[in-house]
Amino acid sequence: MINTHNIPKAELHLHLEGSMKPSLVRQLAKRNGIVVPETLFAPDETYIWKDFLDFLSTYDKVTAVLKNKHDYRDMTYAYLAECVRANTVYAELLYSSDHALLCGISIEESLEGVIQGIEDAKCDFGIEARILLAFVRHFGVDKCIEVAKWAAANPHPLITGVNLAGDEIHFPAEQFSKAFRIAADAGLGCTTHAGEMLGPESVWQAINTAPITRVGHGVRSIEDPKLIQTLIERNITLEVCPGSNVALQVYPDFVHHPLRQLKDLGVKLTLSSDDPPFFATTLAIEYENAVRYFNFSQEELLEMTRHSLNAAFIDEETRRALLERLK
Ligand code: ADE
Ligand code: ZN
Repeated sequence: MINTHNIPKAELHLHLEGSMKPSLVRQLAKRNGIVVPETLFAPDETYIWKDFLDFLSTYDKVTAVLKNKHDYRDMTYAYLAECVRANTVYAELLYSSDHALLCGISIEESLEGVIQGIEDAKCDFGIEARILLAFVRHFGVDKCIEVAKWAAANPHPLITGVNLAGDEIHFPAEQFSKAFRIAADAGLGCTTHAGEMLGPESVWQAINTAPITRVGHGVRSIEDPKLIQTLIERNITLEVCPGSNVALQVYPDFVHHPLRQLKDLGVKLTLSSDDPPFFATTLAIEYENAVRYFNFSQEELLEMTRHSLNAAFIDEETRRALLERLK
């Protein structure tokens, strides 16, 4: 089997709060005098949850250990250090300002920690990372508009995009078009979770109501040939997270996952890990599984990293420099 370790990787779809392993969560809980129910933790550095909505609720409980900028810095640095061990050259970190506010920390303080983590990791390992702000569907349209307005009023070179996440089932994408318009007008890249928990109609709505160039997951687009054609024509890249999709039972197993079909139809695909310890995965495992279950070649894996960098929300100079590293 191909050794995927040395293949340069790039991650476009990673929830920063969802990247914390139980060991780090326990450490932060202790440091901050917070009690996290032991029932959340599985013995193997993963979490216990039942279904999508229970996963979202577990995610909120885990995030509650974050109390100050040092916690945000340590969370960010720990994740990027692990990226480097897997030969990941670039990562986009989806950060939720609403979760920070729920934890009692301001957007400014929490972001200061994230930015410090990125700068420290760049200094120590040379890895590039950017921040995407989350619009969390189930926190409501008004909160998302506030996030967009905050981003527009507080430009920062490391904050380069927004991503609509959360409960796709009860909060359709069209409700969030104003938030996306504000973000896009401010020059931020736009992407949306769609076609994860719902079918093609959710992806149609996402691509027709927001100026997005990527779709988070988007895998259920496979059910509609016209949608596949449209994704190709509009040059929309899918951020595919097979481990997450199987864990959340979008598909019963890898054999039924459409990664190979999407690739063969010509859709631009990238691989990501979503919320690694929740889904017992990492970006390294996703690349390995693409070989094991979907028969991807070394060249096809490299092509996915190239698609990631081409679709990344970064300045052209950094993009060129990162693409050089694939040669
Ligand atoms: N928030 C964190 N992980 C998510 C996922 N996989 N889908 C939607 N919202 C999320
Ligand atoms: Zn996600």
